[in-house]
Formats: sequence, C-alpha cells, structure tokens
Amino acid sequence: MSVVGQQFETELSELRNRINARLADYMEILEDCPSPLRESMAYSLLAGGKRLRPILVLLACEACGGSIEAALPAACAIEMIHTYSLIHDDLPAMDNDDYRRGRLTNHKVFGDGLAILAGDALLTLAFEVIARDTQPGSVAAACCIDLASASGWCGMVGGQVADLQAEQRLEKQNSSEQSIQKEFAAETAQNLYTLEAIHRRKTGRLLCSAVTLGARVAQADADSINRLQEYGKRVGLAFQIADDLLDVTGDAAKLGKKVGKDASLGKMTYPGLLGIEASRQKADHLIHEACDLLEPFGKRADSLIALAKFVTKRDH
Ligand code: IPE
Ligand code: IPE
Ligand code: MG
Ligand code: MG
Ligand code: MG
Repeated sequence: MSVVGQQFETELSELRNRINARLADYMEILEDCPSPLRESMAYSLLAGGKRLRPILVLLACEACGGSIEAALPAACAIEMIHTYSLIHDDLPAMDNDDYRRGRLTNHKVFGDGLAILAGDALLTLAFEVIARDTQPGSVAAACCIDLASASGWCGMVGGQVADLQAEQRLEKQNSSEQSIQKEFAAETAQNLYTLEAIHRRKTGRLLCSAVTLGARVAQADADSINRLQEYGKRVGLAFQIADDLLDVTGDAAKLGKKVGKDASLGKMTYPGLLGIEASRQKADHLIHEACDLLEPFGKRADSLIALAKFVTKRDH
C-alpha cells in the first residue's frame, strides 16, 4: 500500500499481521476437520489479500473507543465471509477465474466440489467465531444479525445474483438493434440505476458491515453507528467502482488476478457505462463525502479517513 504515508503503512501492516495470525489460529483449531477441507479453506483464507474488511472492523472499533483485541473475532469472521464469496465468485458457474490473490483459484487446485464446500464451511465458521468469541452475548448477537444481513439474500448474495442477471440483460441489449439516441440515453440511466443497486449489495453491504461490526463491539452510541454506516456505504460503493476500474486499467501481477475479465463476461460496470474519467470522479466524490461524515470523531477517525482515501488510490 505504497500510496499511503509511511506511518499509516506501518499501522496497516501491524493490523494485518494480527489479523493473519488470528486467522491462522482459527484454521489450526479445526479439530476433526477432514484434511482436504481444511487445506482448501486455509489455502484461500491464508493467501494474503489486503484484509481491508477486517482492518475496517478494528479501526472502527478503535474510533469508537473499543479495543483491537475485542474486535478481532468479528474482524476474522468478516474476512472468512469475504474469502468464501471470492471462492464462489471464481467458480466456473460464476466468473470462471483462474487466479486469485496471486495463486490459482481454489477450484483449480481442489476441484469445484471442495471449493463450494470450503466456501460453505468458511461461511458457517464465521458465525461460530463471532457467537463464541465476542463478548458480551448481546453484542455477539447484534454482530451476527448485522453480518448475516450484509452477506445474505439482501446483501452480498443478492447482489451477486443481480450481477449475474445483469450480464444476461446487457447481452440482450447489445444484440437488439436499438440505436435511436433517446432510447439509448434512457437505457443508460436505467442501467446506472441497476448497476449502483448491484454494487451496493454485492460489495457495499459487506464493507459497511465491517465498520458497524467494529462500532457494535465498542458498544458505540446510535449516532456513531449511523455515521459509520453512512461512511461505509460510500466507501463500499467506491471500492467496487475502483475494482471495476482496476479491471480495465490495472496490472494483473499487482492485483494477483486477471484483468479485462468484466468486458469479456459482458459485466455491467462503471467504466463500461460512464467511462474511466467519470467513474474516477464518482468514486472520489463518494470518498470525499465519506470522510466528511467522520468529522465529529475528530482525530480518532484519522485512520478511517486515510483508509477511505486508499480505496480509490490503490493499485491492487
Ligand atoms: C475483491 O475484493 C472482490 C471485491 C469485492 C471487489 P478485494 O480487492 O478486497 O480482495 P482481497 O481480499 O484484497 O484479495
Ligand atoms: C466480486 O466482484 C464481488 C463479490 C461479492 C465477491 P468481482 O467479481 O468484480 O470481483 P473480482 O474482480 O473477481 O475480484
Ligand atoms: Mg463477480
Ligand atoms: Mg469476479
Ligand atoms: Mg472485479
């Protein structure tokens, strides 16, 4: 993350080390787990990645006066859900990708069956970890509800379904002969509306949940949770816009995944609909708004602000 200052870079790498160590512990203690399943889960979970979501959990918890230690189970849980979503996203039935986090995708190494099941097991482990390791029980329950709604039918899973449906819809539009300018403009507006709804669910909801999980662990007041939620919504949408942009302008070696995939699959994306420059402006505007929302937190939100800025400046 060379685009952030040295001091923040050091803070991030310390947080990432703590997250990685705890994730490794969670893989270690899977007693009686069939070894191919454990290998497949650990292969993807311990493969690196930016750890953006768990870092957000920890920073939001700190910004609300809580401790890193208390937030670590929720941080690991959200990374388990994110990793499961990546394993499934890469399957042949979805985006059919061969590389992820700089290595072959899970199904390329373990086969489709085990990849599906490793995803399922990471999803369920996430809730076990929060329910068992987050204190007090009422906070654990609130975190489980938050994470379940962000990742399930009305969040990430629902968004992934809409993402697949939009592929087919764009295909149909491209094959029909509607070249009249007025119809085209109306279609673009409709597509942008659809696209924003997809991105907010498939990526935005989970990122937003990262900050609210941190706030819940710190037992923050309702106003702080609301502000962080609004920050998370904007950072989450900007994050997926940046992901779309990197698929067009990024470098596969730095990203650890292939580029140019969205166009080849006929995905609906921001650069596809708005162009590169307008997409960048939209993402920057969202980040600007997100940072403004954290003003009442004062210096306690400095790291959350720095992280938001990283989202649009990143090259991986
Ligand atoms: C990639 O997420 C998938 C999206 C939701 C856009 P990340 O870019 O956070 O992937 P990792 O965790 O760093 O590998
Ligand atoms: C993935 O979006 C969103 C998820 C919920 C996993 P993409 O399909 O654009 O993510 P990449 O580009 O494969 O990482
Ligand atoms: Mg996808
Ligand atoms: Mg994909
Ligand atoms: Mg992408």
